Amino acid sequence: MNKAARAKITALGTYVPPRVMTNTDFEKIVETSNEWIMSRTGIRERHVVDKGVATSDLATEAARIALAQRGIDASEIESIVVATVTPDMLFPSTACLVQDKLGAKGAWGFDLSAACSAFLYALQTGAQFIQTGAHKKVLVIGADVMTAILDYTDRATCILFGDGAGAVILERAEDDSGLIDFVHEVDGSGACSLYMPGGGSLHPATHETVEKKMHFVHQDGQAVFKFAVRKMADVCETLLQRNGVKASDIDCFIPHQANQRIINATAERLGLKPESVIINIDRYGNTTAGTIPLAMQTARDEGRLKKGDLVLLASVGAGFTVGATLLRWTI
Ligand code: UT7
Repeated sequence: MNKAARAKITALGTYVPPRVMTNTDFEKIVETSNEWIMSRTGIRERHVVDKGVATSDLATEAARIALAQRGIDASEIESIVVATVTPDMLFPSTACLVQDKLGAKGAWGFDLSAACSAFLYALQTGAQFIQTGAHKKVLVIGADVMTAILDYTDRATCILFGDGAGAVILERAEDDSGLIDFVHEVDGSGACSLYMPGGGSLHPATHETVEKKMHFVHQDGQAVFKFAVRKMADVCETLLQRNGVKASDIDCFIPHQANQRIINATAERLGLKPESVIINIDRYGNTTAGTIPLAMQTARDEGRLKKGDLVLLASVGAGFTVGATLLRWTI
């Protein structure tokens, strides 16, 4: 990465819909229990949208908060990258819808599809525009309405996810703060472990695809779990080693929130300080592209993420996609 010009986060906004679904609510829908969900995942409750609320709505709310925090008008944003696996529709992109809702007249933009790693991929993509000098202000949003693609008769998947969004503004760092380095990988051989088969060009929507529940999340939970525990730590280790950073130097570890056991195993393998590990899956479940900015917000609210902190972000998601980012926190 070009050490001369770094991108830094200058604002953070997050939004979750007000309605909450608890584990007890799920006990009335599928054969499950609060005890099973808590012990296997760490999730207690999650926020869910009401009918008619889409990913662009959550993304726009989060972006408005970030813009207000930075004290700038949407017209100053030059590019919008929306990380999502649940766009409002196949096209146009959710970025276009957000651009219009925000009134970001001067911005172009696009969606980025990398499931649970999408926020990290979008962060680096947005950072490139800043580093090259192409743009001064880029809006990066991670937003998903996972409840739109959940099968509420499948207890193994429906209890895992929630809806939410987070947005950051990227600008040029004049010092050595900001985004330091990243490691990203994909392993497409894992595609069939976590996917939504229907609605694309392979299986366009038909009565049959609906009857076969092909428009819902399908997951081999154990395969994803094993891959996540191994790879999340692997990419973090690579990133720390090549930057000469020890695990004990990390002030704040903000991982994708898919399962508390994955987070704990990763933190333990890396040898991170327990107090540096941010977990909010209990409140939000897995919000896919939303988890990392939402966890940044939790860390700030709890006073555990402060200006100058060395931060490690990490993710594993459908694809498989894997990501890790090292940064010096700037707000
Ligand atoms: O962000 C995207 C990436 N996704 C992930 O990282 C998810 C990774 N995977 C996981 O988090 C875990 O594999 C799950 C939480 C999805 C499942 O936990 P597990 O410990 O791997 O459970 P399992 O799939 O091995 O299932 C164990 C048992 C099964 O019953 P039998 O066959 O032993 O009788 C399941 O049918 O638990 C049963 N089960 C449930 N029981 C009560 C599955 N879901 C539920 C449920 N309530 N909601």
